[in-house]
Parts: sequence; structure tokens; C-alpha cells
Amino acid sequence: MIGTGYVGLVTGTCLAAKGHQVVCVDVDSEKVERINRGDPPIHEPGLSELLRRCIGDRLRATTDFRNAISESDISLVAVGTPTDGDGIDLRHVKEVAREAGRVLSDKPAYHSVFVKSTVVPGTTDEVLGPLLERYSGKTAGDDFGLGVNPEFLREGDAIRDFMEPDRIVMGGIDENSLSELDRIYEVFEGVPKIRTNNRTAEMIKYASNALLATLISYSNEMANLCSALGGIDVIDVMGGVHLDRRLSPILEDGRRMTPGVVSYLEAGCGFGGSCLPKDVKALVAHGEEAGSPMRLLDAVLAINREQPRELLRLLEKHFSSLHDVRVAVLGLAFKPGTDDVRNSPAIPVLKELVARRADVRAYDPLVGKVPWEPIDDGVLYLDELQDVIQDAEAIVIVTGWEEFKRLPHLLKGMNPSPLVIDGRRMLDKSRLGRYEGIGFSTDCGN
Ligand code: UDX
Repeated sequence: MIGTGYVGLVTGTCLAAKGHQVVCVDVDSEKVERINRGDPPIHEPGLSELLRRCIGDRLRATTDFRNAISESDISLVAVGTPTDGDGIDLRHVKEVAREAGRVLSDKPAYHSVFVKSTVVPGTTDEVLGPLLERYSGKTAGDDFGLGVNPEFLREGDAIRDFMEPDRIVMGGIDENSLSELDRIYEVFEGVPKIRTNNRTAEMIKYASNALLATLISYSNEMANLCSALGGIDVIDVMGGVHLDRRLSPILEDGRRMTPGVVSYLEAGCGFGGSCLPKDVKALVAHGEEAGSPMRLLDAVLAINREQPRELLRLLEKHFSSLHDVRVAVLGLAFKPGTDDVRNSPAIPVLKELVARRADVRAYDPLVGKVPWEPIDDGVLYLDELQDVIQDAEAIVIVTGWEEFKRLPHLLKGMNPSPLVIDGRRMLDKSRLGRYEGIGFSTDCGN
């Protein structure tokens, strides 16, 4: 397993737990030491326990790239593919290909390389393969296996998503490469396995994430219209939409099934995280390059860029100036259950509040603070929900943490009652004195 970031470490640990011999490689010796001590460098429910169970037995971590590749049959590449402007930065993937190629040139045995990192269609065949060939002096397919094996791990649910997958997508340059992937995944019986070429496997990952992002922006656009029209609450609207039997199938006994996808059809203050924004941007840039502009996805991104500002708009309905207004921001993580703030809507919200010289306090159950200096200066980060709402004139919910459902109770008796801006529509508005939420307007009919 090359790269011990989020995907690499979860995948490596889970594959070891499934009975494989796994060696995780990373250039960061501190990370490697922590992993070998059974102390994961990232927060993911269940990962510590699983890591401690496997480490030193079927799992080890090392910085010795050459040894790891020489001693294994298969390499899975899970290094970062950050955003490079709008497209993806393949620097790390290319570096791995060069290094792996050098090792393969001295390795007589057949070895396969699979890309787990999210890369735009064509990358494995047109970038990785040629580099591996150049640096190994060998031929992809004939001398070594090459393929794509995208991951579908949600942060916070990654262990379950890996251990009980909904699908396994296997791309390969040829049948031999696919057979090597079969060796990894034969322990996952009964899971649908898609065997395809590399470009299709790469595309499946983007198409999946683009769908989720589209559903979210669709819901947010509906929400904003509800609020502009007034007298319509998007919660009721989407409740009606969700009852379409295609979104909530009726079971034989008359009960409804609620597929997980329905939760992406709820209004909020925008999507974030390490995947959705980056992947959609990369696909749009790739489409542009290919002469096939992605107009829908362009709009998905534009809506998402603006959506956190909707919270500011709601706030400014009640204050002519935010200068010195005591605002409590609840939630920094891009979604509940994670400490990840990458592309979190909290960042633009904090930034705008600081720019307006509001007196900003922030709290998140898992994130201490946003590690970004310019907002640090203007934000007081507190450790308790109770402390952050104390004396607040306005409370802005950015992340849908369960804990925030206590707000109506905590605010009872607070005089004057602070204005609550519900960016996740998670509270019962009838239980709060002064309430604004994404997707409904107090101006008309409410
Ligand atoms: C996503 C994909 O779900 C996963 O399959 C892929 O491999 C990586 O990208 P993740 O980034 O962990 O996973 O986020 P996800 O749980 O899908 O949430 C993405 C965004 O959707 C978040 O901003 C979140 O707030 C929003 N979301 C999530 C919803 O609106 N509703 C939900 O039920 C879950």
C-alpha cells in the first residue's frame, strides 16, 4: 500500500484484517512510526482498534519503498491527487510510478500496480503505465500488471464501507491484471464486482461523486428558491419529493425504505470534504480539455461556492452591521463524524464573519480549530458548546452534529434569545424564538 493517507491507511488496515499480508509505505517517517505503534495519524471510527489488532502481525509500515515493492506481489497506489488550480496535480502519482519502475527493473517476478487514488480517465494508461515502462524497461501487460481500483469510502464510515462494500470496481489493462485484483478481493464474497478497462474504472469514480454533488446542489438551489419566494419551507417540499416511490420504495408490508441517497437530497449550506469538490472540479477541467464542457457540473460547483454565503445573508437580515456582533459558529468539520475541515463551508463562513469584524467564537466537537492563520486571528475557538453560545447574539449552525440538537433546550430561558441560523435544517423551528434556516423565509407566510 503506497501512501498512508486516509484511503491508504484504511485500505491497508482493512486488507490486513481480511487476511492479507500488507506493508504500508510512506515517505513521512513520523506517520510510519505512529502506524507501527498502532496509533493512526487520522481520526476514523474503528480504525485504532483494527490497526492495533493487525499491526506487527499481518500489517507493518515502512519508509523503505524498494523493500516493500520487492517483497510484495501487488502495489496499490493511494497517494494524494490534490487540486492543481482546477485540474488534478499528478506529481505524487508520477513520482510513485518512477520509483516503482526503478524497483521493477530489478525484480524478476511478476508484479502488479493498481491505482486507488482518484485520477481522471486516461491517467493510468497514458501517464502511469508509460512511466512504469520507461523506468522499469519492461512492458505493461506482458511483464507487469496495471490497473485501477477506485475506493468508495465515506469519511466516518470508511471501515464499514471497506469491509462491507456496495461494489468493487476493478479496472485492468488485461486479464492477468484483473486476476491479480481478484486475488485481493476474493475474500469479499457476494459483492458485485465490475471488471472493466482502466478508463472506465476511473470514470466510475468521478461519475459517482459527481452524482452526489449534483443532488446536493440541486437541493440547495431548490432551497434558495423556496426562501426567495417566501411562504414555502424546503423541508416540506423535499419531504414531498422524497416520497416518490422511486426515492423511497414501498415495501410489501407498506413500510417505506429510505435509501441513503435521499440524505443528499436535503438542503444545507454546501458540500465539502476531500473528494466531492476536488473531483467535480477535476472532471469539469478534464471535460473542458476534451472539448466536452460539463455545463451541469459547472453549475453544481457555482451553487456550492455561493451556498455558505446564504448563511451570511440570513444573518444580515437581522443586523444592519455585523461589526462586534457576537456570533457563535457551530461546527467546523465538513460533515459530522469527522475532524476533516478540507473545503468545509465553515471556512468561507468564518472568513466572511471575520472580514465583517464580527466577534466570532467557534466550536466543533472534534476539530479544535481551523488550521488557517488569517481566520485564526479573528476567531476564538472554545471547547464546549455551552461556552460558545453563552452571550451569543447569533448562532450559526454549519455542521449537522447530533450534539447541536440540544440547542433548543440549552437556549431555553436565555434572555434575550439569540438568533439561530440553521445551515443544516436540523432543529425544530417551532422550539426556537428567533430562527432562520436555509430554504425558508420568515418574510412571508411563516
Ligand atoms: C464521498 C463519497 O460519498 C465517497 O463514496 C467517496 O469515496 C469520497 O467522497 P466523503 O467525502 O466522506 O465521501 O463525504 P460524504 O459523506 O459523501 O459527504 C459529502 C458531502 O455531502 C458533505 O459535505 C456532506 O455534508 C454532504 N452529505 C453527506 C449530505 O448532504 N448528506 C449525507 O447524507 C451525507
